[in-house]
Amino acid sequence: MHRLIRIAALSGIGLIAILWMAVWVIRGNPQAFAGTPLEALAMVVGNSNAPSNRTSAPPVANPLGGSVHLGGAFTLVGSDGQTVTDQNFRGKWMLVYFGYTYCPDVCPTELQTMSAAINKLGPLAAKIVPIFISVDPERDTPEAIGAYVKLFDPRLIGLTGSTKQIADVTRAYRVYYAKVIQKGLSSYLMDHSSLVYLMDPAGRFVALYNPQTDVDDMATELRNHLSQ
Ligand code: NI
Repeated sequence: MHRLIRIAALSGIGLIAILWMAVWVIRGNPQAFAGTPLEALAMVVGNSNAPSNRTSAPPVANPLGGSVHLGGAFTLVGSDGQTVTDQNFRGKWMLVYFGYTYCPDVCPTELQTMSAAINKLGPLAAKIVPIFISVDPERDTPEAIGAYVKLFDPRLIGLTGSTKQIADVTRAYRVYYAKVIQKGLSSYLMDHSSLVYLMDPAGRFVALYNPQTDVDDMATELRNHLSQ
């Protein structure tokens, strides 16, 4: 039985290695794969090579090509335990980030960046809602995520949901996440992609920001989009 588990684990590792190799090859030769689903995969998996955003143009104008839909309808649970859907935000721009409240580093940094960028928008800030969606619904109860987001920004909306609801929304946004169990520790970490999604008032995808996007760059980007 143990041997079977080991074989399964090794197969899994082998598959991941092959995927990473593919991503690596595509990044080295982006033209050959432009517009293909493989290019989209390379964009979404990992951020190290994602285009850094230093100009007024969106960092990734249309990263997944015209054929791949990014974002869309979702049904989740708000910090008060009530159902929240994408329709609740129609008419507002959404700045969406996926993470979890136990995150030791990346999530707090990114949420602070989002908050600080919105602070720089002046009156335009009223047009945008920052949203934090949990990839760890097991621990992120509505109460927990509500208390967590308030540490960063009173405007920040924390959303969680059932395992199925979180699986659905992360699939729509092409978010990668996985539980990482640490040997000898009772708690676990979540490995997750770290991208900020800007969605327009109709709920359509507009731009992606990665952890290399600093506060000033994000504010400039947001101002450009929101003032149109
Ligand atoms: Ni995180």
